[in-house]
Amino acid sequence: MNTSPRKTVLTCAQPSGKLQLGNYFGAVKNWVSVIEEYDCFFGIVDQHAITMPYSPADLRKATYETLAVYLACGLDPEKCSIFAQSHVIGHTELAWILGCICPLGQLERMTQFKDKAKRQGQNVGAGLLYYPVLMAADILLYNAHAVPVGEDQKQHIEITRDLAQKFNATYSPTFNIPEPMIPQTAARIRSLQDPTSKMSKSDPNPNGCVYLLDPPSVIRKKIASAVTDSGCDICRDDENKPGISNLLEIYSASSGKSVAELEAQYQGSNYGQFKSDVADAVIALLEPIQQRYAEYTENKDYLNEVLKKGAEAAQKIAYKTLAKVYRKAGFVERPR
Ligand code: TYM
Repeated sequence: MNTSPRKTVLTCAQPSGKLQLGNYFGAVKNWVSVIEEYDCFFGIVDQHAITMPYSPADLRKATYETLAVYLACGLDPEKCSIFAQSHVIGHTELAWILGCICPLGQLERMTQFKDKAKRQGQNVGAGLLYYPVLMAADILLYNAHAVPVGEDQKQHIEITRDLAQKFNATYSPTFNIPEPMIPQTAARIRSLQDPTSKMSKSDPNPNGCVYLLDPPSVIRKKIASAVTDSGCDICRDDENKPGISNLLEIYSASSGKSVAELEAQYQGSNYGQFKSDVADAVIALLEPIQQRYAEYTENKDYLNEVLKKGAEAAQKIAYKTLAKVYRKAGFVERPR
């Protein structure tokens, strides 16, 4: 299949809104760090993004925006393949095959399905239930060895592993069993307004979320109004001080200082000063990304070139995997 001696990494983000700080720390930052070591495929999963109500114009815009952010964060398209999911034939095809061996009950028990379905009431589309199968197909189509994601995707990787094992056992060994690559720190950045839930692009309260493209004044305002906890100590205590713990984690991930170092630095200090310094660190991190983003986003031809090159590389592998899977599934070879 993939004949390179290097192992393969695949991971993706949905263009379902603007990328936020959690996407950066839990995901994109770590993708940049594996480029040299692995054959990397980074998807913009537009087909996943339509499992929730959306506007086609916004999706188109968010797809380019996500691509420009990937590039601005340091994903070098000369060293990895960046593609839009809908440009590659094979994702939905493999999802169909995997869906036929996936127990319905397992899909109905998925946490993200239950959460999102609750928000949609009567109007839940079947695509939302099928979401994890499509995600498994994204990963297995490239026979990925590792999948760098934030903690919230753990359950989706588990089902991918189950489906890979089941396919291998039902037909014959075909897929690697992919490993999740979850960062040691900042694997789950929480909402600034409700630190018991994760920071999310779809947070109904935009103040809970620092978007990567937020201007400095907005970042400052959002962090200044972040929910903190009673007491005045600046120390990590996930259970009793989730707000301060979250800010410490954001500060640590933005500045490179450890949480312990920051706790020592802010002993006896107050929340106001601390929050102002957190904002400074986040702004310093995001400013160069925002500058590069502005340059990339001006150049639509370049963005289309990146997508074309990424889709071509991805398609080569996707066709090979699909042909193999179709043969194993018993489909007659297409007459040439
Ligand atoms: P998505 O688009 O929600 O998020 C993209 C990546 O960002 C991580 N992430 C976070 N990490 C830390 N703290 C947070 N608050 C936070 N919010 C998001 C996610 O874990 C993810 O790594 N189902 C996936 C998209 C997908 C995918 C795939 C991922 C589709 N197919 C195949 C990997 C492999 C999703 O919705 O990610």
